[in-house]
Amino acid sequence: MSSPFGPDFERGLRLMLDAIARAQQAGFPDAPVLDMAGALRKLAELRGRAPFFDYLGSGMGRGAWARLADGRWVLDFTLGIGVHLFGHGNLDLIETAIRAAASDLAMQGNLIFNTEYVGLMETLLAHAPAGLDRCWLSLSGADANENALKLLRQRRGGRPGIIAFRGCFHGRTSAMAEITDRPDYRLGQPRTFPVYYVPFHDPGDPQSTAKTAAAMRDVIAREGDCVAAFMVELVQGEAGFRTAPREFFVPLFEQCRAAGIAVWIDEIQTFGRVTELFATELLDLAQYVDVVTVGKLLQGSAMLYRHELAPDPGLISGTFSGATAAMAVGRRIIEKLVGENFFGPQGREKQLELMTRRHLAELSSRHPGKVSHIDGIGAMISFRVGDGSLSGTREFIKRAFSRGLALYYGGHEPACVRLFLPAGVLTEGELAEAFGIIESCL
Ligand SMILES: Cc1ncc(COP(=O)(O)O)c(C=O)c1O
Repeated sequence: MSSPFGPDFERGLRLMLDAIARAQQAGFPDAPVLDMAGALRKLAELRGRAPFFDYLGSGMGRGAWARLADGRWVLDFTLGIGVHLFGHGNLDLIETAIRAAASDLAMQGNLIFNTEYVGLMETLLAHAPAGLDRCWLSLSGADANENALKLLRQRRGGRPGIIAFRGCFHGRTSAMAEITDRPDYRLGQPRTFPVYYVPFHDPGDPQSTAKTAAAMRDVIAREGDCVAAFMVELVQGEAGFRTAPREFFVPLFEQCRAAGIAVWIDEIQTFGRVTELFATELLDLAQYVDVVTVGKLLQGSAMLYRHELAPDPGLISGTFSGATAAMAVGRRIIEKLVGENFFGPQGREKQLELMTRRHLAELSSRHPGKVSHIDGIGAMISFRVGDGSLSGTREFIKRAFSRGLALYYGGHEPACVRLFLPAGVLTEGELAEAFGIIESCL
């Protein structure tokens, strides 16, 4: 690739990337080794709260493996809660980031823009669900959701209310914490607008679809006039990678459309990880959808929307729209996902899902009662350990971490183990190694 900085830059970059590759191969023999306990004490003191894991990364890694600051290596199945699908130290992404970081601005905003901003929007929209032809970039997933909330309220005449699913998670800002179905995440916070919950799909109940459709009818009959949008995770993330079939969603979306309630899909968590770029496409639901929000894998966030919903001036803006390097890397990630056989029934994510499910099924038959309730799709797979108590699940995760495997949990009594699979880099051997650790911890 040519550089605006000339051949010296290209030569220097090549040298840097070769040096990184050699250091990765050798396992970073020259990297400093910190006193982890001391560093984590400092972190907790500065932040005011200890971290969940005894994890302080060194900034060095190779594929699915991250090197901790004290020199230990962990197999990373948390991925910063679903962000690093291409693992640690990916040379393609590092090269993209260096090129962008060498440009004149670290951060971009909403007043003047550099070319990475337009490039990212173009790439996103080129692969967006049909009908979504506008894009607004932002920083966190919750930022994108806040933008969507304001936009949809404005386009629905200022209606304040939201319909959401039981168990949903939509972010940590004040408004998102009000919608998120976790009262324990908003202790001490006021309720400022109405949120009406309908039950998510229950695979154990044949009446589940009918029951939720009836609950939706009831909410719309009673409160529909004050509802702006129905906010949906098509695969619930925080609740434990819970899936539902297309047939479950369609009657709900049809009711919303008939009542003038916008359909808003929160794909912050699912974007790029569900065997298609968008879960909306996987479930063939684009025709019903007004807004989709994405984040995490994108290395930033975005709201995708229909052009007729464009916000009035002044409604949405802010100093930052993203870091230049993050925008370039986000764009490269989409290019890699759509260009390197990740999606579809034969794609890498589906194959990884099938292998992971096979491992889980074997564990479940070898250890009856200890592994159950396998759910999820693509690079998001979950299972229950034992009776699914929150404390037992957290203990299990801590044990796995002490043996070199970083996992995370989801749900709440029952809780589950969530596998955030680094589908971009994980090998079959590494998956088997991870399951060896999981089995040893059961
Ligand atoms: C479905 C969903 N929406 C929104 C968010 C919030 O994203 P962020 O943490 O980037 O603000 C998350 C984060 O986990 C999420 O899973």
